[in-house]
Amino acid sequence: MARLTGKRVLLGVSGGIAAYKSALIVRLLKQMGCDVRVVMTEGAQAFITPMTLQALSGEEVRTSLLDPQAEAGMGHIELARWADLIVIAPATADLMARLAQGMADDLLTTLCLASDAPRLMAPAMNQAMWRHIATQRNLHTLIDDGWQMIGPAAGEQACGDTGPGRMSEPDAISDAVMAHFTPAPPPDSTSRHVVITAGPTREPLDPVRYISNHSSGKMGFALADAAVRQGLNVTLICGPVNQPTPDKVERVDIETAREMDAAVQRLAPQADLFIGCAAVADYRLEAPSTHKIKKTDDSETLTLTLIKNPDIIARVAAMPASRRPIVIGFAAETNEIEHYARDKLMRKGLDMIVANDVSASGLGFGSDDNAAWLLWRSQEGTESEHQPAQSKQQLAEAIIQQALRLSKRSQKSP
Ligand code: C5P
Repeated sequence: MARLTGKRVLLGVSGGIAAYKSALIVRLLKQMGCDVRVVMTEGAQAFITPMTLQALSGEEVRTSLLDPQAEAGMGHIELARWADLIVIAPATADLMARLAQGMADDLLTTLCLASDAPRLMAPAMNQAMWRHIATQRNLHTLIDDGWQMIGPAAGEQACGDTGPGRMSEPDAISDAVMAHFTPAPPPDSTSRHVVITAGPTREPLDPVRYISNHSSGKMGFALADAAVRQGLNVTLICGPVNQPTPDKVERVDIETAREMDAAVQRLAPQADLFIGCAAVADYRLEAPSTHKIKKTDDSETLTLTLIKNPDIIARVAAMPASRRPIVIGFAAETNEIEHYARDKLMRKGLDMIVANDVSASGLGFGSDDNAAWLLWRSQEGTESEHQPAQSKQQLAEAIIQQALRLSKRSQKSP
């Protein structure tokens, strides 16, 4: 487990109830071989004592910028230079606001300004504070400044509310640290394989007309690209889209839902992961005309009979265990997103679903950005995580990382 021997992690702890979990984060990082130094804000010390984190890290815990004794040992600038990685967990709304402003009014914010090290942050706060426009503004600033966000997760909160804002679990945070320090292996050195569907399907009415939708394929292509960067072998089955094929991706072009279904049935049983990102037409014409349908003068209407297409992803989810990959679907919703997404997760027998709000302007279909809920099955039923508005590339990274965590978990279970 000690694969990160000698990696120097500066753990910042700010003042939220989740601070008690930072003890476990220190232990996990130490088990992975990291050298860990902890810096606590004043608020953090109301929730957990420096002594606890000192005992676990084996290093003096720093709490004050103006501490002559500590500065005589490792001064704050040296500490900033020492870190290979800064991790803040939990990060409160207040700390996010101060960091977004570039303030240096305590040791932790000063270190963040003084260091060039890469940085991860696990926000934790009440759901209303997380949703507040000011926090969301700060979040975007921090992401633009190079902070990588871990979570927050959603669910029951210490204050009794339910919603997004719960700190991601310590193992998700240590996984993010491991992923940060682990270069993606070259694709050929791994047998892990993901099949992704992307784009729209086209259902012919006659030789010149079809039914389709506005899917651009951007999200599916971003997933393919992110999966390659994580060292996976990628097969992308896509409908008609205007997107360049990412490097090292095997691309299978199809037009109709039935063609997509046939390609998926052929390829998914050999895959470890299946991601259904395509906007598959739910219906097709029962019998497309073999010649162009003519306009007639004797009727103002034209009746077409449509029949249901196969539910491609549900068919993969229903494959026998020996051939079934981990299955991840997408849901585009306009209201009660989590509720409908959870229902779809269960109904289609998926392992995870990525649900996005298609009513929000500038996000989703055709755009470059997206925000989403990730919901997955766990021993407790379901767990979820909110991914705020970000580029489809960034969201794709987060989806692939969570998919790999699920895949790792399923390999562990007998
Ligand atoms: O039922 P709905 O279309 O909302 O479900 C969306 C999810 O199901 C997506 O992952 C999509 O790729 C997949 N899907 C499918 N086959 C269909 C319809 C949807 O694989 N016929």
